[in-house]
Amino acid sequence: MNRPGIEELRSIQFFSVMSRRDLRMIARFASVKTHRKGEYIIREDTAADTFYIIRNGKVAITKKFEDGEEMVLAMQYDGEFFGEMALLDEGLRSASAVALESTVLLEISRRDFAVLLKKAPLLAYAMMRELSVRLRGTGALMVSELQRKNRELKQAYRETVNAVVNTLEARDPYTRGHTDRVTKIAVSIAKSIAEEKELDEEDLFTIEIGALLHDVGKIGVPDAILLKPGPLEAEETREIQEHPATGKHILGNIAYLKEALSCVLHHHERFDGQGYPEKIAGEAIPLHGRIISVADAFDAMTHDRPYRKKMDHQSAFQEIEENAGKQFDPQIVKAFRELLNSGVIAQVLASLETNSNDPKTDSAAGIA
Ligand SMILES: [Fe+2]
Repeated sequence: MNRPGIEELRSIQFFSVMSRRDLRMIARFASVKTHRKGEYIIREDTAADTFYIIRNGKVAITKKFEDGEEMVLAMQYDGEFFGEMALLDEGLRSASAVALESTVLLEISRRDFAVLLKKAPLLAYAMMRELSVRLRGTGALMVSELQRKNRELKQAYRETVNAVVNTLEARDPYTRGHTDRVTKIAVSIAKSIAEEKELDEEDLFTIEIGALLHDVGKIGVPDAILLKPGPLEAEETREIQEHPATGKHILGNIAYLKEALSCVLHHHERFDGQGYPEKIAGEAIPLHGRIISVADAFDAMTHDRPYRKKMDHQSAFQEIEENAGKQFDPQIVKAFRELLNSGVIAQVLASLETNSNDPKTDSAAGIA
C-alpha cells in the first residue's frame, strides 16, 4: 500500500495546519491511489467504507434521481474531500464520484479512522468538524435542488392543465376568464382558512389545480345546450348536471390529478344535501368542493350572460350569504365575506384584468 509522506500531507490544505506529530499519525493510516480520467471512485447505492481527500485532480459528485436525471452535486478539486459519510455509518453511498481527470487521492478507511479516533481523538475530532461543515452544505444543496425540481414539476402541471382549460374556454366565449377568476378566488379563500383547516402548501396547490379543472366535464355537454342563449329545459339542465361526473371520468386515471378530483366532482354539492351529483351534505362534502362552490357562484353572478345582467359584488355576496347553510358552507361564506370586505377579492380580480378585458361567466343557469 502506498503511504503518503509528511510533506505530501502538509501540501494538502485539509492537513496544512496540523502538527507534524498528527501528520505522522495520519500518514500511517492513509493510502495514496491514482484514478484514471472517467473512473468511478464511488458508485451510488454501493457499500461504503472509505473517505477520500484529493491530493490533485478533479472529481464530480453526482446523484441520480428516480427519473434517471443525473445531477452534479459538487465539483471537488485539490485539497477537497468526499465520501465522508463512510466514516460515520455503514449505509450505502448516497452519491457517485467520478474522476474528471487523472486524480490522486488520499484514502482513509472507516476501520483506520476508528483507530485514529482512539489513538488521536483530538485529531479525529478536528477532521470531523471539517466534515460536518461540508455535510451541512451538501444537505442544503440537496434540499434546494429538490425544491427546484418540485417547482418545475408544479409549473408543468399548471401549464398542462391550462392547455386543457384553454381548449374548453375556446369553445364557449362566455366562459373566458371564468376559470382563472374562480381559481384565484378559491385559492384566496383556501389561504385565509389554511391555518384553521390545517391546509398545507400541497392542499393549496390541489385546490388551484382542482379549481382550474372544475368544469372540465363540460367538454361532454353538447354545444346546443352549453351555448344556448337562454334558460334551460329540464332535460338540458340534467345534461349539464352531468359535468362533474364527466369531469371525474375524464381525469380519473391521471394519478397526479387524483387529489384534485374532489374539486371536480363536488363543486355543485349543496351544504343542505340538495346539490349534485352525490347529494352529500355538510362536512361530508370535501372542503375543496365547498370552497370552489362559493367562488364559482360568486363569479357566475358577477358576470353578464346574454339573458341575465351581472350583479355587483355586494348584491352577489348578499345572495351567497342568504344561502349560507343551505347551498353554501357558512364557514366558507364567513371567510369569503372577510376577503371581500378587506378588498382582497377586488385586488385578486384586478390582477387578472390586465390579462383579459373580456370577463364573462360560464353558466347557463348562473351556477350550473
Ligand atoms: Fe360547474
